[in-house]
Amino acid sequence: MSVEELNRLFGIPGLAEFEEGNGGLTKLVIAAEGSLAEVYLLGAHVTSWTPAGGEDVLWLSRESRYEIGKPIRGGIPICHPWFGPLEGDSSAPIHGYVRLTCLEVESISPTDDGGVSAVLWRRFGKPPGDNWPGDFELRLRVTVGRSLSVAAETLNRGQRDLVISEALHTYFRVSDVRKVRVTGLAGAAYWSKATGGRAVQGPEPLTFTAQTDSVYRHSAGEVVLHDPQMLRAINVAKRGSKSTVVWNPWIEKAAAMPDFGDDEWPEMLCIEAANALDDAVAVPPGKTHVIETIISVEPCRHGVTV
Ligand code: BG6
Repeated sequence: MSVEELNRLFGIPGLAEFEEGNGGLTKLVIAAEGSLAEVYLLGAHVTSWTPAGGEDVLWLSRESRYEIGKPIRGGIPICHPWFGPLEGDSSAPIHGYVRLTCLEVESISPTDDGGVSAVLWRRFGKPPGDNWPGDFELRLRVTVGRSLSVAAETLNRGQRDLVISEALHTYFRVSDVRKVRVTGLAGAAYWSKATGGRAVQGPEPLTFTAQTDSVYRHSAGEVVLHDPQMLRAINVAKRGSKSTVVWNPWIEKAAAMPDFGDDEWPEMLCIEAANALDDAVAVPPGKTHVIETIISVEPCRHGVTV
């Protein structure tokens, strides 16, 4: 559908308008409660969210590709219907195929509290690989206002349980990853893909001094990213998510990724609401499962929320 047609059918002038984005891909620009967000139809991918009076909360690589079939690097990729590599099929795309596929617009509407909510959806039939999950409908509800929420609803259209792993793979923009702290994960058991080790997070906040790629299991609570240099704390609340992934590629891995600038790694930190490893979800036939991340920002000075 063309940008003009989308605007005619779904646009709300001044609040939600479609535009041509990078690479000629269509994006939706939402302005609500003084905040501004951009959502590409490719993967229902939120690439930017600037809350009222603040700076962009999301990080986007200057080297990102904008091409159907390739993921956008930054923002909030939707990893679905599997997270990471698919067990038993090395030819399957990492993090599933949703982030590689364009979704359709179902509705855009104002919310009762002054925000705007857009729903993108698509039915994914049984894909080619034997191990690949299918057939399901996915609905992505992006709500923009004083906070940003992204909710992914999976409806199993098949005859058997649909087993999915997933992540709302949020890239946060930070002043310098070496100077931020993350709280909310104390006591959670994690598996570090960077070291191959398993451990339990101590009471101290997380700080970052090397490549970090950790899956925290059974961690359903709110996580806070404290960034004193940017004078802000980002609260990452969630629903329907039992795992939290924390990722920064650091120097060598960043240099090895063609769509990631070699010097960009200090500017970002991923905190992902997920259901990964043995937190994978079995959705019964005809039933739905929802995972949601709700992001809000508070001012903070010298590391203390004010
Ligand atoms: C993280 C994974 O969620 O995503 C990492 O834990 C992975 O292992 C990273 O490297 C980025 O993945 P991709 O496919 O977007 O490069």
